[in-house]
Parts: sequence; C-alpha cells; structure tokens
Amino acid sequence: MIRSLHHVGFTVPDLEVGRQFYKIFGLNDQASGNDLVLRCADRDQDQLRLVEGAKKRLSYIAFGTDEAGMRTAKTRLEAAGVPLNRMPFKGVEEGIWCQDPDGLWVNLRVAEDAPSKRAPAREVNMPGRVRRLTDRAFGACTPVASVSPRRLGHLIKFTPDVRRSVDFYTRVLGMKESDRAQDIISFLRCSNGGDHHTLAFAKSSHVGFHHLSFEVDSVDDIELGARNLINAGYRDCFGLGRHVAGSNFFHYIRDPWGSLVEMFWDMDVIPEDDSGWTVMDGSPEDVTAVWAAKVPPEDFVVNFESAD
Ligand SMILES: [Fe+2]
Repeated sequence: MIRSLHHVGFTVPDLEVGRQFYKIFGLNDQASGNDLVLRCADRDQDQLRLVEGAKKRLSYIAFGTDEAGMRTAKTRLEAAGVPLNRMPFKGVEEGIWCQDPDGLWVNLRVAEDAPSKRAPAREVNMPGRVRRLTDRAFGACTPVASVSPRRLGHLIKFTPDVRRSVDFYTRVLGMKESDRAQDIISFLRCSNGGDHHTLAFAKSSHVGFHHLSFEVDSVDDIELGARNLINAGYRDCFGLGRHVAGSNFFHYIRDPWGSLVEMFWDMDVIPEDDSGWTVMDGSPEDVTAVWAAKVPPEDFVVNFESAD
C-alpha cells in the first residue's frame, strides 16, 4: 500500500535556522502559511515541512499510495483498531491520518512520486562499460557552488520496539522488510519495490529521529554537498563510506538540532517481484558499512531527542 515517501514534517524552534541549513544543503524553500516548505530543484513535490514549535521533533511522515492502496489501508487500519483521524496539522489536509505504535503521525494520500524535470545524472565509466565519452567528469573539473539533491529517499527513526514498528508498517501498511540487524535495526521498502529502504528503525530507549536522506547525482555530489555544509560551520559526522544494507555511498552531517542528514548515491533497488532477494540478518556492525573514510563516531547512533 505504501508506494512512496511523499514528504516529512518536522517541528523546529526556529524556521530561519532551518531555512539557512537546507539552503546550503541544496533545497529550495517557500512559505506555506506559517510553515516553511522545502523542495528539490526541478521537482514539484514537497519534501520537508518545517513547523515552528517549542523543540525539534519529527512530527509526521506522509506516504503516497494509489486508490486501491488507500481502500486496503483503511480496511487494515480499522481491523487493527487504529483510529483514523483528519488533519492534525493545519495546512496538510490530504488523505487519511493515523498514529504508528510510537505515536508518530502517519499521513497516507493518493499520490504518485513526482518526476524530476532535470536531465538524467551524467554517465560514469567502468571497466567494460564506457558511457562517458569526450566529456570531462563533472565533479573533477566543474566548480560547484551548491549541490541539488534529486529527491528525499528515506528516513530512519529511533524506536524502543523495532519489531513492533516493523509489524505495523508491513502487516498493516504493506511495506516489506529488506534487511535487518536482529531486533536493533530494520530496513523497509515500499510495497511496489524500489529503493532498498524508504523507512528504517533503530532501537533506542525512546522515540526519536536519526536521519533523513536525499539522493544526489554522483559520489562527487555527496562529498561536494558535505564540504559545503562543513565549510558553513555545520558538524561533520560519518562518511564518505559505503553501506552494507542498501549498498549506497553515504555521508552524514549533523543538522542544527543534533539529527543527521545524509546524501546517498547508488542504492540497491529491489523490484516488486522480489523473488531474487534474500533478507540479511546480522549485527548492527554487519549492516553499517563495507568501508568508510573513518570509523563511525560514538555519537552516530545517539538519540539526541529528549524522551518526553
Ligand atoms: Fe540512510
């Protein structure tokens, strides 16, 4: 039923702090009532909605589905005894709303993923597969003032009960588990396949938000984007590296509120017919990184949100 990640809502204490951070990150901002909406360039879809409030907090996740998916979701939510609500957030009025087992608001709406209007990412050359001819590599020779992320790809939230969250998002909302690390981490993809993970959970003493991740055009863009944020004074965290779960290249930077943003490139894609895919189950270290430019800092998996 969940076929795409539409956008994510956050409460933050200062919208201007968010606007400045995400501008350097490479998103476009626009006011929406009292809120601040952030989008990727060349794509007509909200990606983040920042709502001013007392403290930073993940407020809701909006997912896309189709008409049939909406009907099935309503039936399953009602069968599971999950109340359906309407419009807990002013200005976000589409679809149905419910709360996941941690109390996080979930919005499900009939929506297709908006396409990028930008030209496809430039080709890369590999042994036996030469695609970039008479064309200098973009990241090697072009001064880049800013990076333009393509789309919001996924987010990871902290939860005290990973398996309970997996049960809700798979059994009730139709997602599929791609890989896991015992009952400590789980990665879920959409019901119709696609990216290895669109939503993931990491075990913590309390609910919180770990990171959100945007796809960029190249490994160069990951590092150019990280450099832009670090040069602007934001704190580096972990990267460059390549994950095991999802296989994507990554770099994480601290956002102004102690959570993380990630830029990724070259993630595993699993088709809807997933008969060739086997779920991996290892330790958290097993799924974290094949290699990385440095070991993950100790605070990489710290939940900086307060428990209340
Ligand atoms: Fe990620």
